[in-house]
Amino acid sequence: MTTQRIIDILEQGQVGQRITAKGWVKSRRDSKAVTFLVLGDGSSVKTLQVVVDEAVREAAQLQLVGTGASVAVEGELVASPGKGQTVELKADKVSIYGLADQETYPLQKKGHSMEFLRSIAHLRSRSNVFGAVFRIRSTLAQATHRFLSGQGFNYVHTPIITASDCEGAGAMFEVKANTKDHFFGRPAMLTVSGQLNAEALAYGLGRVYTFGPTFRAENSNTNRHLAEFWMIEPEAAFFDIHDDMDLAEAYLKALIEAVFAERRDDLELLNSFVDKDLIKTLETTKNATFVRLTYTEAVDILLAAQKGGRAFEFPVAWGSDLQSEHERYLTEEHFKLPVILTAYPKEIKSFYMFQNDDDKTVAAMDVLVPRIGEIIGGSQREHRLDRLEKRIVELGMKLEDYTWYLDLNRFGAVPHAGFGLGFERAVMFCTGMVNIRDVVPFPRAVGQAAF
Ligand code: 4AD
Ligand code: MG
Repeated sequence: MTTQRIIDILEQGQVGQRITAKGWVKSRRDSKAVTFLVLGDGSSVKTLQVVVDEAVREAAQLQLVGTGASVAVEGELVASPGKGQTVELKADKVSIYGLADQETYPLQKKGHSMEFLRSIAHLRSRSNVFGAVFRIRSTLAQATHRFLSGQGFNYVHTPIITASDCEGAGAMFEVKANTKDHFFGRPAMLTVSGQLNAEALAYGLGRVYTFGPTFRAENSNTNRHLAEFWMIEPEAAFFDIHDDMDLAEAYLKALIEAVFAERRDDLELLNSFVDKDLIKTLETTKNATFVRLTYTEAVDILLAAQKGGRAFEFPVAWGSDLQSEHERYLTEEHFKLPVILTAYPKEIKSFYMFQNDDDKTVAAMDVLVPRIGEIIGGSQREHRLDRLEKRIVELGMKLEDYTWYLDLNRFGAVPHAGFGLGFERAVMFCTGMVNIRDVVPFPRAVGQAAF
């Protein structure tokens, strides 16, 4: 590779060295004798200052070059007398790749709203904030693979088109061919979760995880729901609910550590411009022992708060699903720490969860973090065939729709557990972004599929 990235020039470049830097102009400032160009190339939030003297400026027709234009600059690295950088590039040649019209280039001005930037999703990755968010997204994906493979998990690929509704919530997109009715010989949907297939693979490989897109046709226009989102789903044989919680806690901490180690600049930018508590919240989470309590204990805390005058939009009652406001109260206000809730009422959880001895609750676990609420949902799975079948029937589901899934536990059943981390929620947590549509490059949500 002959092209040097700006991050490498800034970190490894020596004064006196001749280099060629390529990038987009972030700003141009003219004085009588020289022009200053600030160049960025996406390799980090950092920029290279380029100094162009009069003769070079005229030869290069630099008067045409403004914010957004793309250039290559050749010259010598010199010590920078200015503040904010140690080296700068003294240009002896500037070549223009592409100009950007200053009247119509939308990222010309600073301080656009997130809503406006969403309407130009094809251009917003060129802004500092979105550059930082998408670099952190990449770091989180890479750190996921490193952490889980370090724990002995095999990366498996589960189908995107499926005939089974894993979560039983019914909010699925149907897949139809425009050439043939029932292309798959039966109704088919986009998957809401790769879990059932991952369970099958965990019985072969011991520890597996999926990392893929999942789809939910929930008509919920919130800043925490997408119609298309990415989920990481580890699944392990010989795991119980406690192993599952330990893995979830260690995984979240490993993600935060990777962002601190690799994306400090981006974190600092986001801490200044997006969420003043971002670094503090991540530090706290990384160093915390997550609070673990049962759903019933959590409901008692919420009921006490309600009695003490804390108003909730949705009333708290044992047996109903916790709303985001309840989850956030627990993690942000009551404990001020990440929280893992377990032993949820079986009525509000999926059919496949391990049934506790009380006959009322299942071995589910949800991880709640400040600003987000639920970031992870998981459980120990019901591996006792008779109980699993009984639950499927109780819920009015058809046993014949789950033949292959039941087979898993017909042969060599063992305790096993897993969870799903909503990848975009993890990106929100690690960037401070408040709307989930702003942590995925091209969001798909109810009423929104542009780009
Ligand atoms: O809690 P959920 O529904 O769990 C499952 O799908 C299990 N099958 C996972 C498993 O045990 N293998 O979803 C898991 C996570 C949630 O905690 C949330 O972070 C995220 O996925 N999530 C969404 N993220 C964005 N948009 C949506 N519509 C989401 N629905 C769930
Ligand atoms: Mg959930």
